[in-house]
This record gives sequence, C-alpha cells and structure tokens, in this order.
Amino acid sequence: MKTIACYSMKGGVGKTASAVNLAWSAAQAGYKTLLIDLDPQGASSFYFRVKSKKKSWEQAFFEAHKNLLKHIKSADYENLDVLPAHFSFRNFDLVLEENKDSEKSLYKVLKGFKKQYDLVILDCPPTISNLSQSIFVASDLILVPVIPTTLSERTLVQLYQYFTQRELPQEKITPYFSMVQKQKHLHAETMQRLFKEYPQFLPTHIPFSADVEKMGEHRMPLGEFASGKPVFTAYHDLWRNLRDKLFPAS
Ligand SMILES: Nc1ncnc2c1ncn2[C@@H]1O[C@H](COP(=O)(O)OP(=O)(O)OP(=O)(O)O)[C@@H](O)[C@H]1O
Ligand SMILES: [Mg+2]
Repeated sequence: MKTIACYSMKGGVGKTASAVNLAWSAAQAGYKTLLIDLDPQGASSFYFRVKSKKKSWEQAFFEAHKNLLKHIKSADYENLDVLPAHFSFRNFDLVLEENKDSEKSLYKVLKGFKKQYDLVILDCPPTISNLSQSIFVASDLILVPVIPTTLSERTLVQLYQYFTQRELPQEKITPYFSMVQKQKHLHAETMQRLFKEYPQFLPTHIPFSADVEKMGEHRMPLGEFASGKPVFTAYHDLWRNLRDKLFPAS
C-alpha cells in the first residue's frame, strides 16, 4: 500500500481537484483506492457525494484503525472508497498536541489499511502544523500543486526549508504545475526556470480549465463528464507519472 498526500500550505491551488481526479484514475486502473478527506471544509467528500456521520469524532480518528473503518463509504465507482471529512477535523491539531509520539499517529492508523487498499490518497487542509507533520511522516509521496507564480514558488521554497529544518526526507516532495496558463509570460517563464532548478517536478502540468470548476456542479470527477477534454488527459497523465514512481513494476 502506498500513500499520496495532496498537500500545500497554500490555499486554493488544486489539492482537492488532484485528490479527486487521481483517486478516480487509480481506481479505474484497478488499484483499490481510499481517499481520506482530512480537510474540515469537506470538498472532496462533496465531489464524491458522501457525508460523515453527525457526531464529532476527531479524538477517535487517531486512536485506532478500527475507528476509521466504520466511517468509510463506498463511492459510486468500482475500487474507490472515501472517508469523508467531519467539521470536527478542524481540531486535529489540538488532538495531536496531546498525543504522545504524535508524528507517527497518522502512520499508525493508516498501517491498518495495508491489506484492503493499494493506494491511500490524503486530501489535506492548507496548513503547516502538527497535522501536516504527521502527514509528511505517513506519506510515501507528497504531491504539491504549484501555480507558476511568484507566491506559489515561495511556498514551495518554504516547504523545502521546513523539511531541511525538521530533517524530513525531501525526496518525498513531488511538485507539479497546476492551473497553468501558458499564454501568460510569467507562467511560461516560471515553469521553464523551476523545471531546471527542481528536477523533481513531474513532467505533466495541469492547465487552467473551466471544466475543473464544473466538477462542483456535477459533483463528479472529470473522467465522468469531461473525458474528451485536455484537462482530463492531463490529470490522467499525472496519475501515470505517479503510478510509475510508486508502482514501478506494474
Ligand atoms: N486546473 C484548474 N483550472 C481552473 N480552476 C481550477 C483548477 N484546479 C482547481 N480549480 C478551481 O480552483 C478552486 C480551488 O481548487 P481546489 O479546491 O482543488 O484547491 P485546494 O488547494 O484544495 O483548496 P483549499 O486549500 O481550499 O483546500 C476551485 O474552485 C476549483 O474548481
Ligand atoms: Mg482542498
């Protein structure tokens, strides 16, 4: 089982869009996939039309793997399950602060899914916190959407600095360009420069497209209503980049 975190401390950069579309592509390719919505905003739960039970359960989340099992819902697609977010997940940081060995908390509960799933995808909230620290430890790969602008570039630099300070494995950081508008000089120039500076950028970029916004109207991944569109192909290629990294033999 492999774990991908769709992560950036910057908000609105495409974490949820990537989590949803990659989960769909992985499931279509036959990988048993679990999408965990860690963001109390619950956007990926919304796209997959699943809701959490009413009762708050942020405390129970990190206690035992079996506590998570009863919250898992099957999505409308084969091989794909979703653990929906709950608004109480906004308290994850407080819960983790009280946990001994909190860095490993997420890793420990996810380990329990090894036999059931090939892939776990985490849709992460835009913070850098105790929760993100546990995400960095639990994930094999941290997929970071980067809009090719100055501020997003800065956020990526800060993430690398954070990993250096905390002695976390930098090779887990896997950036890709998101919401690309190549006709903008700044986007084209930034991409060219960053591809050289950071060879770890995935080759596939995701173009800016109104179809991604339409996912909210349809409440479906792109593959279900825009499979002929370039943005769908881009997400599908992004999945292939990740598959080749995480499952090289397949
Ligand atoms: N490639 C794209 N082209 C155009 N719009 C996009 C694209 N990707 C995402 N969006 C839109 O941008 C907004 C933010 O995207 P998304 O929710 O995926 O970002 P996020 O990083 O998960 O945000 P948050 O930090 O709030 O969780 C949404 O309205 C989404 O529809
Ligand atoms: Mg999001």
